[in-house]
Amino acid sequence: MGKITIAIDGYSSTGKSTLAKQLAKALGYIYVDTGAMYRAVTLFAMREGVLEDARSLVRLLPKIRLSFVFNPQLGFAEMYLNEENIERAIRTLEVSKHVSKISTIEEVRLKLAEMQRAMGKDKGVVMDGRDIGTVVFPDAELKIFMNASPRARATRRYKELLDRGEKVSFDEVLKNVQERDYIDSNREVAPLKKAQDAIEFDNTDMGLEEQFQRMLSLSLRVINTVEN
Ligand code: DC
Repeated sequence: MGKITIAIDGYSSTGKSTLAKQLAKALGYIYVDTGAMYRAVTLFAMREGVLEDARSLVRLLPKIRLSFVFNPQLGFAEMYLNEENIERAIRTLEVSKHVSKISTIEEVRLKLAEMQRAMGKDKGVVMDGRDIGTVVFPDAELKIFMNASPRARATRRYKELLDRGEKVSFDEVLKNVQERDYIDSNREVAPLKKAQDAIEFDNTDMGLEEQFQRMLSLSLRVINTVEN
């Protein structure tokens, strides 16, 4: 099968990563969760006590080594920071509260975008994030822009956090979703916006299987066009 680049951007908790993971598996492509990379830098900043000090964080950036390591039991790659598995540590509400701010720092974005381009240089990749179709891979053959109502997204995220044993309230999660929407869409560098040639996908009232089937047939159509 031919190889293309699939960019999936959109608002937080729209189910981008669930869909991207499934799609990558079905196509035999690599999956890259770029949100995990921004979360990893945020966790690093929290641990170093430089959340409010962008200049110090930028100075410390060379100390950050990020890698995705495939976990055969889970069937997907987990995020590592300097050889430590941080997959669980980056999914807390605490990290979610700070990640949008860290994502506004230009030097952080430049470093991560460069790594993302290297990971996708041979195509055959499904990458999800906020700026993949606009900045990281503006020439991606297939671009999807995902959206759902803030309430639907907060409900999904709330369930996930409860399942993981976090003690959070629904209102707190909804507020975090809305705040991240605002910061992600209004930052100066690489704001979240739909690429002109992206296909918009609202999944407020759509189940996972239907989303996956639609996305798979769309991808196969584009792959065939590229091959011919
Ligand atoms: O996909 P996520 O919710 O795990 O992403 C966490 C945050 O990282 C999100 O609020 C904005 C930021 N992010 C970004 O700025 N650019 C990306 N390509 C991916 C994520």
